[in-house]
Amino acid sequence: MASNNTLQAVILAGGQGTRLRPLTLSRAKPVVPILNRPILAYQFALLKAHGVSDVVLACSYRVADVRAALGDAEHLGVRLRYVVENEPLGTGGGVRNASDLVSGTLFVLNGDILTDADLTAMRRLHESRGSRTTIFLQSVPDPRQYGLVETDASGRLRRFREKPTADDEITTSTVNAGIYLIDAELLGRIPRDRPSSIEREFFPALIADEIPCFGWCPTAYWRDIGTPSAYRAAQIDLLHERVDIPLSPLGKPLDGSWIGGGPVAPEARIIAPSVVGAGAALGPRCRVGPGAVVGDGSTIGPDARIEGAILWERVEVGAGAVLQDCVIGADVKIGAHARVGPEVVLESGAVVPEHATLTR
Ligand code: GDD
Ligand code: MG
Repeated sequence: MASNNTLQAVILAGGQGTRLRPLTLSRAKPVVPILNRPILAYQFALLKAHGVSDVVLACSYRVADVRAALGDAEHLGVRLRYVVENEPLGTGGGVRNASDLVSGTLFVLNGDILTDADLTAMRRLHESRGSRTTIFLQSVPDPRQYGLVETDASGRLRRFREKPTADDEITTSTVNAGIYLIDAELLGRIPRDRPSSIEREFFPALIADEIPCFGWCPTAYWRDIGTPSAYRAAQIDLLHERVDIPLSPLGKPLDGSWIGGGPVAPEARIIAPSVVGAGAALGPRCRVGPGAVVGDGSTIGPDARIEGAILWERVEVGAGAVLQDCVIGADVKIGAHARVGPEVVLESGAVVPEHATLTR
């Protein structure tokens, strides 16, 4: 239990990352890299910037991988503890499983969103309105894949409907953005030891019981990175500095890019904005960028071109290969003169033959 003035957060990180396959076949979703560091590093940095340094990770899937990658996260600025579900307990059960470690008003976050929302302002609203649960909201063009949230003129929650299917249920474009402030005393309403959904059960019941709950809809950067195209787009946004999260530099700054200190052949070109990971080697006349992320220890062959593409660690790109707007898992080997086109996602360890062309 934390003292009253320590702000706490629970991060839900127990999903299987099905929609991010094949990337999540070899890597747990909470530690999938975003500009060469785990996505959760961005959430920790945001939380820390808003005074939250005690974080509980609610996990159920590939916990050993997550622990190996993050440890106690001291190097990432927070104190991280883990609670592990034997069977996945859903978003409700996941938070409930963490309830013995938290008290007071706590943040709850979906582990797969990238945002720079002003969480301090969210807390101010929560307090000034006497809210017992506040939901971060965003307006989106197609709300179907989200939780739809209706509020009244004062911002009070009137209805929460998770991913409605019938057309006449799409009554708003305002959706749950996956960060909540919750009075920890309410967590007792969630059953222990059976799966439940915070979206389908907990929120609707709070509204039905007339417990004061509010929505908070700020102007902020926000994206759920749960699909490969959103995952790539989020990194392009970060490269263009559209997301305001205070993080340590990604490498040595160089003309609008960041480079990791590996060997760069004299005629190699790095076009901003790009990130070249630690120890990555760039061969003669290759062109990296704009919008390229080269993973640690990767090697880019002579005359290869990497544009709008995300490469994980130790990728080997052969001579003259062209990678455009794609995502390449760790240890992939791309044969000489192969072409990998937009929206292609290659699972870690894949081998692309010389001169092959991959499109979606
Ligand atoms: N601990 C635990 N246990 N975590 C879980 C479990 C579980 O059984 N199931 C899912 N999670 C975690 C996921 O890892 C993810 O971080 C978060 O809960 C949300 O699950 P997703 O599977 O990503 O849900 P979604 O993207 O379809 O919808 C959610 O996010 C939207 C915003 O991005 C909902 O909260 C929607 O209402 C919301 O609009
Ligand atoms: Mg999601």
